[in-house]
Amino acid sequence: MFAKRTNWNLETNRLSAALSAHRTSGKPLLDLTVSNPTECGFRYDEQAILSALRNPAALKYEPNPRGLEVARGAVSQYYAERDAIVSNDDIFLTTSTSEAYSYVFRTLCDPGDELLIPAPSYPLFEFLADIQDVRLVRYQLIYDHGWQIDFHALEQAITPRTRGVIVVHPNNPTGHFTKPEEMRKLNEISATCGVAIIADEVFLDFALKEKQIATFAANSGALTFTMSGLSKICGLPQMKAAWLAVSGPEALRVDALARLEVIADTYLSMSAPIQWAMPALLRQRHGFQEQVIGRVSKNLSELDRQLATQKSCSRLEVEGGWNAVIRVPATRSDEELALELLASHSVYIHPGHFYDFSSEGIVVVSLITPENEFSNGLRRLILHF
Ligand SMILES: Cc1ncc(COP(=O)(O)O)c(C=O)c1O
Repeated sequence: MFAKRTNWNLETNRLSAALSAHRTSGKPLLDLTVSNPTECGFRYDEQAILSALRNPAALKYEPNPRGLEVARGAVSQYYAERDAIVSNDDIFLTTSTSEAYSYVFRTLCDPGDELLIPAPSYPLFEFLADIQDVRLVRYQLIYDHGWQIDFHALEQAITPRTRGVIVVHPNNPTGHFTKPEEMRKLNEISATCGVAIIADEVFLDFALKEKQIATFAANSGALTFTMSGLSKICGLPQMKAAWLAVSGPEALRVDALARLEVIADTYLSMSAPIQWAMPALLRQRHGFQEQVIGRVSKNLSELDRQLATQKSCSRLEVEGGWNAVIRVPATRSDEELALELLASHSVYIHPGHFYDFSSEGIVVVSLITPENEFSNGLRRLILHF
């Protein structure tokens, strides 16, 4: 009856089952994996958000495959503030970054074609790729006093079926940015092999050390699809507003835009109230981002303070984003460790394999966890060793 692509193993894994049982039991929980910004105690400019959603202009239906000019103008302005010139005509609005991915996969790939994805990274791509009949091939990121792309592995992974290289900038959960020299190398490889760059920049604004990180949105060295949205940069995942910017050599860019226009015109998925609200929603990002960067910095200092009291655990470098990667003694599998921490200490962490880490002894914690919960949960985690 059903398509093979939907033959997923949908059984609940042991950790999710344990978490759900823990929650049902009503026991307290120190959740060090929180990622929903609307549940982390951040203050939003409620007045500005709600009044932006009441724009009378939304009473009129003006279908546009790229999305309303007023909203694309706000996205273009976002990039202008990052010193990148992105024309309104090169932007498509989508309801989420995930939807933007699917438009790009559909534009580039026939069934069975391949896309390169970084490992470790965010576990979003598997289902997206299955739904679009695309095969994912991993290229390793290596850690040596900071993360970097293993370019030798990346080049080895390219086959005649490769259509694109995905970069998550900064990557989730490693929190490292693609460096200018790496961007140059990616352009060179992509242009030579005829593959596109697909840049996921949902965490771009959350740099901890450098003031501003260069975006891929105006990259001209290879056909480039750059994605971001309100989920992370404004902390508003419920608004369902994101975008896709196309750049690169003129002929390829024009061709890609024409193809994307047909896909976008088929769905016309954006709602009018959100599009009219986008300029105001984007404006309120600064207040949100200040709070997030403040919390992430405080939690990172607390992590360092607690790590300095012992020798078993250490953390990897964090350049940005919302997560920290902690190295712990690999005396059992990361999943066993997560189960133990939940059962004995009511602390929930993500095991490294959740993010495709190839070795054991890795725990990922969310740096946007409210400070008290973070500090208490971490103390219990560290005491466990
Ligand atoms: C790297 C990365 N890309 C994309 C997304 C999804 O964003 P959206 O809500 O716009 O689909 C996430 C969500 O956590 C993410 O971590």
